[in-house]
Amino acid sequence: MKQWVMAKRPIGLVKPTDFRLEETSIPEIEEGQVLVKTLYLGVAPVMLRYMTNETEFERPMNNGDVMHGRGVARVVKSKCGKFKEGDIIQTKLRWREYAVIEDDPYYMTYKMNNTDLSLSYGCGALSMNGFTSLLGMRDICHVKKGDQVLVSGAAGSVGSMAGFVAKALGCKKVIGIAGGKQKCHLLKERLGYDGAIDYKEEGLYEKLDQYFPDGIDVFFDNVGGELLDEVLARINRRARIAICGRISEYLIPPEQYHRPRNLYRIGLKDAKMEGFFIYDYQGRHSEYENQLAQWIREGKINPLEDIAVGIEEMPNALISLYKGTNGGTRMVKLDS
Ligand SMILES: NC(=O)c1ccc[n+]([C@@H]2O[C@H](COP(=O)([O-])OP(=O)(O)OC[C@H]3O[C@@H](n4cnc5c(N)ncnc54)[C@H](OP(=O)(O)O)[C@@H]3O)[C@@H](O)[C@H]2O)c1
Repeated sequence: MKQWVMAKRPIGLVKPTDFRLEETSIPEIEEGQVLVKTLYLGVAPVMLRYMTNETEFERPMNNGDVMHGRGVARVVKSKCGKFKEGDIIQTKLRWREYAVIEDDPYYMTYKMNNTDLSLSYGCGALSMNGFTSLLGMRDICHVKKGDQVLVSGAAGSVGSMAGFVAKALGCKKVIGIAGGKQKCHLLKERLGYDGAIDYKEEGLYEKLDQYFPDGIDVFFDNVGGELLDEVLARINRRARIAICGRISEYLIPPEQYHRPRNLYRIGLKDAKMEGFFIYDYQGRHSEYENQLAQWIREGKINPLEDIAVGIEEMPNALISLYKGTNGGTRMVKLDS
């Protein structure tokens, strides 16, 4: 079987030479383990931080270690009472065609409920990213009918779901921010957004004033930095801000982080700003999956996927994330 290892710790952006494809044998399993065959592997911005050992929630990596990552797999052999042959699971597979998974909390293994829908959704709409959009909108921002909502990184994996979720929950106006005409077209025509702002081509802050003359009630932020500060300048009384990510600052040193000037407005406007991490809400994942699956069946969510084929594509799939070329969830299909 094939697997990708880290050849070199990246400096700055990831490059093809930071990875090496290896051939190895399919492992045997012991009591308490399952052997799974990988069907889909997701790629996510956080993977670069796995390679530089900058996250608290993933095991440190050294050169030669198999790349970390989650995906969807089918159980092919089981010596673990919890899973049987044929089960479809989401877990920490790493970048490999087969994986041995233990019944251990580290793996955050999650058996999918809605396998009548496309199994690829287990990398996006019905994965941690989809759950993140529902957690952020409903349980952190408590969106309600009539709210005027802004989403940054709106064409990415989380953002492409966040707009659907806000509309399904009855929000009046949902505006997304993305880079480029094509992505903004997607937001309006495909992803249920009421309007789109192209932050690369348009005057972002003037557009915010045009779309939100009465102020912003809810901000679901994937980007952070200066944008967050400018949104704080425009929030309404009792606004809610979910800090989902801060992708604009992942690749720059801390001394270059934007220093916010408008934090005082949280107090001034009796607003709430909260960071959150989907891994802390494991007990709710099944409920999140079932709610999102129901909205997919009802046509309220139409997941957007960006699928490459073959394990060989993994490095390119990750590299392209940082170039912003993906629309929806970027993933690689290995098998079905
Ligand atoms: N809190 C949680 O539990 C949780 C869970 C999952 C993900 N996240 C976070 O959520 C964010 C989105 O994740 P995702 O998986 O949806 O990512 P994604 O699919 O890779 O989308 C990210 C998008 O961000 C935009 N972007 C990239 N660099 C940027 C920059 N410098 N400034 C502004 N925009 C930039 C790009 O779109 P454009 O071309 O439009 O710029 C890119 O397509 C990340 O920050 C991630 O870490 C948080």
